[in-house]
Amino acid sequence: MAVREPALEQPKEYKISAATVKKIKEIVKKYPDGRQRSAVMPALDLVQREAGGWLPVPAMNAVAELLDIPYIKVYEVASFYTMYNLEPVGEHLIQVCRTTPCWLRGSDNITKACKKKLGTELGQTSKDGKFTVVEVECLGACVNAPMVQINDDYFEDLTAESMEKIIDDLAAGKKIKIGTQIDRKNAAPVGGATTLTEVKKGGK
Ligand code: FES
Repeated sequence: MAVREPALEQPKEYKISAATVKKIKEIVKKYPDGRQRSAVMPALDLVQREAGGWLPVPAMNAVAELLDIPYIKVYEVASFYTMYNLEPVGEHLIQVCRTTPCWLRGSDNITKACKKKLGTELGQTSKDGKFTVVEVECLGACVNAPMVQINDDYFEDLTAESMEKIIDDLAAGKKIKIGTQIDRKNAAPVGGATTLTEVKKGGK
């Protein structure tokens, strides 16, 4: 997918903000002396957020320099995990889960709905720059499959129709319901509890 390969156009340099450097130094303190490389993942996440949702190469280099580790150690992490974007992404990054439970429950239809609605292929950004669509592996919400992650939020129990509506609402700047898109509480059974229905308060 396109966002997994470094962007062709890169800024010449990148300076991590003082506020983010401070946060990264706090994280480093959680690890034993000499193990500062353990902070690479949260450091990359913080830098990606301040860089506008992606990691230019000079930003990854700046993280390596801050943690005093080889550049390659940072590239290895950033290019492996889908939570890091190596190319600019839209304002709303839609990550469609395609692993088996979501696939069995119709993730192909969710991907198709995104592509149709936005006129993009996977790994591409819509013409207005608002949406990027990618496919990812299990995001740990299988019980409410199929699901997508958009920026930091999960949207679950999706259909092609509800996915299209979410895109419409985001494009219109409307507030949208996070989590399950059907009538269920969190990950509870659809229609309410099916077991332990006789247990009363206090366990009697
Ligand atoms: S398979 Fe989609 S969240 Fe686990």
